[in-house]
Amino acid sequence: GNGFGSAAAKVDEARLWQRHVDMAKLGGTPKGGVRRLALDANDIAARRLLADWAKPYGWQVSMDAIGNLYIRRPGTDNDADPVLSGSHTDTQPSGGRFDGIYGVLAAFEAMEAIEAAGIRTRRPIETVVWTCEEGGARFPMGTMGSGVFVGRTPLADARAVADYDGVTVGEAVDAARAALPDLPERTFGFPIAAFVEAHIEQGPILEEKGLQIGVVTGIQGARRFRVEIEGADAHAGTTPRARRKDALSAAVAMVAALEKVFHDDPSDTVRFTVGRFVVTPNAPAVVPGHVAFTIDFRHPDDAVLTSLGDQVEPICQANRKGCAVTVHQTARGKPLTFLDLVPGAVDQAAKGLGLGHMRINSGAGHDAGPMQVAAPSGMIFVPCEHGISHAEAENATPADLAAGARVLAETLVTLAGR
Ligand code: GLV
Ligand code: MN
Ligand code: MN
Ligand code: MN
Repeated sequence: GNGFGSAAAKVDEARLWQRHVDMAKLGGTPKGGVRRLALDANDIAARRLLADWAKPYGWQVSMDAIGNLYIRRPGTDNDADPVLSGSHTDTQPSGGRFDGIYGVLAAFEAMEAIEAAGIRTRRPIETVVWTCEEGGARFPMGTMGSGVFVGRTPLADARAVADYDGVTVGEAVDAARAALPDLPERTFGFPIAAFVEAHIEQGPILEEKGLQIGVVTGIQGARRFRVEIEGADAHAGTTPRARRKDALSAAVAMVAALEKVFHDDPSDTVRFTVGRFVVTPNAPAVVPGHVAFTIDFRHPDDAVLTSLGDQVEPICQANRKGCAVTVHQTARGKPLTFLDLVPGAVDQAAKGLGLGHMRINSGAGHDAGPMQVAAPSGMIFVPCEHGISHAEAENATPADLAAGARVLAETLVTLAGR
């Protein structure tokens, strides 16, 4: 029958796992991770594979002008705004097999399960791939596809963003569209009823508590900065200390001073990371004349994001050691609480399926953040091994992945209605 749980019962754990295995081959690394940078050949191949998997169902697959991909299962009322579910296919430079792709594959599995259960929903349900979620892995802009979809970022601004080799998003998107000529064009920004994103937790809490499902209540805030230090190249053997403008020496002092202030936090709530550090010319016999580094700073309290984040610039200026320093803020996202619609439906689904669950705030950023501008949004977390993510060692169990897909299937049926 079509009672509660009939969609969940059709989730196929082995099929869902195999799809992860197949996807992990696209950009797979020798150490068992994945390197699939936004809109690179592997990221395009991931879209191709999804489109091919959708074919037997006759579901329409389309792509918009920023490369977001949609797979649509019709409803009984196709004028009704669809419910969207998905995540991203791009990864960190040495990323794992689950961050992003799980949310896409769970959404597709949920649609297959709903189909297998013979359930006809009123609203269409769509699996979505958002382009370039991983800010700075290739292009220095995160949640790009979802940000363009909701109007946070004008399409032209996104297209102008260049990667570290100078290739623009515009060039990369045009190449992706040329490589997938059979996919019809979709206009981004269409109205939607709700958005749900399944994701590995990327932290240790669910594993520690022995629970399979996180009902995500919100996402902590973040500020990102790029610090540029301009000194002067000089000879390492001949240049006296007083004549040096050593950009690396200044950068090291800045990072030490910043850590002292940001890590003065007994509750261990502040997240402060210098993740990218570029020294030029990076030669043993040259006093380094130029350094650029990034700061990733996150906190659940916007007041702290402001008060601490605003200290980045003065701390850097105070440690410039005769060099010139400029501090650019490259991103700022406020802490966000999801409206109750999706978390409520996720909670009910987990409860109805008898799965251990808890409410949890996300430490990582996600497309569900920007998406809430367009419609009520929310997320489902499943545990990952030792809480490790953004690393090749990322791991999760087939059973936990399937549990999340079951909760997602029931949540989508609830949100799409009968
Ligand atoms: C994106 O994955 C982020 O939270 O860094
Ligand atoms: Mn992710
Ligand atoms: Mn990520
Ligand atoms: Mn993320």
